Amino acid sequence: MMERIFETIKQIAVKISNEIKFADLGYTDHANATGDTQLKLDVLSDEIITREFANLDCVKALVSEEKDEMLSLNENAKFIVAYDPLDGSSLVDVNFAIGSIFGIYENELKPENLVASAYSVYGPRLELVICTDKPKLYRLNKEGKFQFIKDLQLKEKGKLNATGATQKGWSDTHAKFIRELFERGYRLRYSGAMVSDLHQILLKGGGLFSYPATTDAPNGKLRVLFEVLPFAFIYERAGGVTSDGYSASLFDIKIEKIHQTTPCFFGSKEEIKTLHEFYGSKNG
Ligand code: AHG
Ligand code: MN
Ligand code: MN
Repeated sequence: MMERIFETIKQIAVKISNEIKFADLGYTDHANATGDTQLKLDVLSDEIITREFANLDCVKALVSEEKDEMLSLNENAKFIVAYDPLDGSSLVDVNFAIGSIFGIYENELKPENLVASAYSVYGPRLELVICTDKPKLYRLNKEGKFQFIKDLQLKEKGKLNATGATQKGWSDTHAKFIRELFERGYRLRYSGAMVSDLHQILLKGGGLFSYPATTDAPNGKLRVLFEVLPFAFIYERAGGVTSDGYSASLFDIKIEKIHQTTPCFFGSKEEIKTLHEFYGSKNG
């Protein structure tokens, strides 16, 4: 059953990738649930995904960044697919790499019910990472098929540091922590598409990606169900560690609403150990 979901994700990736090449780059006059003005491409990608999953009788419901409410499909089915149709979509106009993110939940939208996740990267090449047990990298070949490339594993410590949000809104703790990583020789890598930034860190073996709480967004910007948890699943299964700054894992979060956001940190073991040294515990 899960295989059918992965096959559908492969078809979706090819379709969205083709659309990105020639589609209109304009905005719609709508905002999504988190207040971003939707691009025509965000809406088109959401429609492609909805259409493809509508054919699958094993999918109970869809939750999308671009839909205000959950969309029910088959009441007696088991899987809920939560997705970000196009991540980093505001970077299409500068021709940067962007992607789609999928989290597959069994029966209920709870962190512990996330059973698989996947993301595509629309860059110079079309790549796909699929994870149930261990993350696996696939690349579209000349024959139009996704070819398995390798298993992905993080090292104990990396060299890259990607951190988001408006710096003037950072806490002193976050600013000091980030400064310390640079003091220790980390190099800045941040494009503004979490898919591409996390993909780079994962493929280069390690480092840290963070999107902290800020004064204007105390719960961060990135969305729990379809951005944060799918990547936390992949990073933890690649041997990395995740946190909201204080927690032992992003999986400790409690879901209260479908468009909920959280501060988030994804890294190799060493960087998250340093994070905890700087952030400490919430009450301490
Ligand atoms: P989306 O395009 O789905 O709205 O997501 C954009 C997100 C994420 O990909 C990225 O890491 C972050 O926004 C960048 O935000 P800042 O420019 O505030 O760093
Ligand atoms: Mn996104
Ligand atoms: Mn998006």
